[in-house]
Amino acid sequence: MAGIVGFAGSFSQPSRTRSLVQAAVDDAAHRTGLRGLVFDLGDLGASLGTAKRIDDLGQDARKLVESLLAADAIVVGSPVYKGSYTGLFKHLFDLIDPDALRGKPVLLTATGGGHRHALVIEHQLRPLFGFFESAVVPTGVYAASSDLDGGVVTSPEIVARLTTAVGQLVGALKSGREVARPISTAA
Ligand SMILES: Cc1cc2nc3c(=O)[nH]c(=O)nc-3n(C[C@H](O)[C@H](O)[C@H](O)COP(=O)(O)O)c2cc1C
Repeated sequence: MAGIVGFAGSFSQPSRTRSLVQAAVDDAAHRTGLRGLVFDLGDLGASLGTAKRIDDLGQDARKLVESLLAADAIVVGSPVYKGSYTGLFKHLFDLIDPDALRGKPVLLTATGGGHRHALVIEHQLRPLFGFFESAVVPTGVYAASSDLDGGVVTSPEIVARLTTAVGQLVGALKSGREVARPISTAA
């Protein structure tokens, strides 16, 4: 499935990270008319931990990863664990071919207990997607526990930042399509 696909590197149920990723995907899907899909580590299941290649993943997990690779744009998020993204969040991207996300519009998000590690987006997530040469939008969205309530983003500052970031993601998606469209030779 193409469309807007979100991945949250969390096992928690409920997950604040998944809620933040879902909010971004819903908004992007609404603005573009594309389908939205969100999954997290729990959806990928136990095969992720031992997989050395994407083919080692269970069938359902492989389909989810394939949807991420085929997406028009992606939203990624991780809870902060010990000042960085979670180990299994990184492990999923370790399985992905270095060329598979080149030019892909990507919105970066993260959640943490407080605001102390808000720069995880700039210091860890952005370099990872720099490696993949993805089209990462300038605005990342970090939310602390106090910025969400019952899976809803309640902080007006974070809601505004999400709106800005999703606007950039939709812009990147549309400009990518413009570049890909063949130039008309009709007189
Ligand atoms: C093992 C572990 C390590 C954590 N380390 C940090 C940390 O370094 N900085 C921080 O702000 N929050 C830390 N937290 C808190 C989580 O990042 C925070 O609760 C997050 O919103 C959880 O997201 P989730 O509900 O999607 O799992 C840690 C939580 C756990 C379980």
